[in-house]
Amino acid sequence: MQRSLVVANWKMNGNKLVVSQLLNAIKNGVNKDVNQANKIAICPPSLFLELTQQELVDSNIFIGAQNAHPQNAGAFTGEIAFVMLKEFSCSYVIIGHSERREIFAESDIFIAEKFAAAQAHNLEPILCVGETQEQRESGQTESIVLGQIQAVINEVGIEAFAKAVIAYEPIWAIGTGLTASPEQAQEVHAAIRSFLTEMDQTVAENISIIYGGSVKASNAEALFKQSDIDGALVGGASLDVNEFLTICAAA
Ligand code: 13P
Repeated sequence: MQRSLVVANWKMNGNKLVVSQLLNAIKNGVNKDVNQANKIAICPPSLFLELTQQELVDSNIFIGAQNAHPQNAGAFTGEIAFVMLKEFSCSYVIIGHSERREIFAESDIFIAEKFAAAQAHNLEPILCVGETQEQRESGQTESIVLGQIQAVINEVGIEAFAKAVIAYEPIWAIGTGLTASPEQAQEVHAAIRSFLTEMDQTVAENISIIYGGSVKASNAEALFKQSDIDGALVGGASLDVNEFLTICAAA
């Protein structure tokens, strides 16, 4: 089984001063209070990757990006490439976040291309999957989530998941304060692991399947107690040092 992984997704928040203060407080807190047997990664807005690299230079905290474009270079105004992320010591990159799927209309195929491009540059993709409230209510949770994973497997093969993370993020729980109960989350995580087991048992046993959606200090421990929840992808609470450090300590 993997070491647990807690990832901060800061989304489009912060400025130079805030980022600097947050990174220093997290770095100091992690050194003091958090068992670094666990992995911690911070995904700031891309413009602050260089600052993040500088601030975290003497820490064990990993750096991740929130997005990139699958091509290495070219006429893609406004985009950044995975190869560029490597210059800022990135280890992880979030792929297929529901905000990218919904607001920016990213397709399963495009997400699979990004997944492959990330790995081609030695970045570990954190593939996000999750259902809407409507899909949950109509009993489609498993088929949606497993379908999103299958779409990537179709393009890159199951072996590629030996170096990837899956984040189960029910859309109805993101930024809403509504968290999936530990049992609800565990049910989906177990379904994902058993789906992978059918294709490759080693991949299924070793992959980190982390949960995201209103994770906070008060619910992290109960989530992490579930056997198939290997960590968290944290949005809002990762912008609050005390909340985030408590989540890291619970992992
Ligand atoms: P919140 O933790 O703010 O619900 O966001 C979750 C998320 O989208 C992390 O990627």
